[in-house]
Amino acid sequence: MAGHDSTIYRSSTTAPVNIAVIKYWGKRDETLNLPTNSSLSVTLSQADLRAHTTASCSDSYPHAQGDTLTLNGTPQDIRASKRTLACLSDLRILRRALEDANPSLPRLSAFPLRIVSENNFPTAAGLASSAAGFAALVRAVADLYELPQSPSELSRIARQGSGSACRSLMGGYVAWRAGSKGDGSDSIAEQVAPAGHWPEMRALILVVSAAKKDVPSTKGMQSTFTTSTLFPTRAKSIVPERMAAMETAIRNWDFKSFAEITMRDSNNFHATCLDTWPPIFYINDVSRAAINLVHEVNRIAGKAICAYTFDAGPNAVIYYLEKDSMQVLGTFRQILKPETEGWGGVEPVRDLMDGLMATSTGSMEKLAAGVNRVILTGVGEGPEKVKNHLVSETGEILIGSGN
Ligand code: DP6
Repeated sequence: MAGHDSTIYRSSTTAPVNIAVIKYWGKRDETLNLPTNSSLSVTLSQADLRAHTTASCSDSYPHAQGDTLTLNGTPQDIRASKRTLACLSDLRILRRALEDANPSLPRLSAFPLRIVSENNFPTAAGLASSAAGFAALVRAVADLYELPQSPSELSRIARQGSGSACRSLMGGYVAWRAGSKGDGSDSIAEQVAPAGHWPEMRALILVVSAAKKDVPSTKGMQSTFTTSTLFPTRAKSIVPERMAAMETAIRNWDFKSFAEITMRDSNNFHATCLDTWPPIFYINDVSRAAINLVHEVNRIAGKAICAYTFDAGPNAVIYYLEKDSMQVLGTFRQILKPETEGWGGVEPVRDLMDGLMATSTGSMEKLAAGVNRVILTGVGEGPEKVKNHLVSETGEILIGSGN
């Protein structure tokens, strides 16, 4: 029998948020979390939004307690989360295989895990954090276990935590291939292009406060899947065609096509939500004002310079290119209340205002009344290993350590 090993093993990572331009909505298998259609997203910069996770394990952690997870300072009931259990179990199996092949490795797979995670999103932002959270969890444990698997292979595991999380294991432009196999082995994420291929892609997030809690996405998509009459066409033909067109647009730096596909796909997804029985409303009047204004800005500018997309909530994510940032940001800066938070040094630009005043005063008032904060970000890299640990070298949980 090997002697007692009291070492505290640790590995930490940060992981990004991603915002889909072709949406994942609908599961063909709930247990394995397999989607009805492929999806494609832009990974956003971790300078602005990220999850930070430390995975640690030790033979000296109480075995009776099992694995523990602390999220934003609050201990989570890991046993109640089938998804977390599924991820950890798969990661352990991979570690055990390494240990079996090389008996000189420490038996980390037999030690309890102590995982601590924090995200740096403004709490008021109401941004979904599960994608970054599960990507960080899977990456941190994989690093702790020194697993040789590629990000694509790990995406199969992260997918079981939260579907969209599989796309946060990579930077840049990422596709999640729906796959067709029953065991989900071909349902994985793949990088379509690295961030450096089209680094000019920027995102303006308009944070819209929701009066009521949205239907959680897992529940919403099940309901759409079983009741919407529009949904089968979306999954079978609309999305497959758009995936191909979107990949071509990204490869050719074609913002005009990127913008149109992004907006149409957001609208199509929200149309299936409205077609769900009973209907689900994620976008609200403020979101619709943002939609109108993006179309008006593009019309007055004479070309597509910005494109909106909405997830399962009312926040607008507006993609645009760096070269148009003055016009896009300056116009929204001019439309929103001067006290809106998050603009940094952006100055209002009046160029398009006469045109907007002629057609869109109602939308401008609605947007200004409903948005109190913006987040300026852009395309970014995948998870990064960091030395800043949320568990001390003696195993204590460190909270609020500056992320
Ligand atoms: C609208 O990944 O949160 O953001 O797999 O049930 O955890 P689960 O769902 P989740 O759904 C995200 C839906 C979406 C679209 C997208 O990100 O592609």
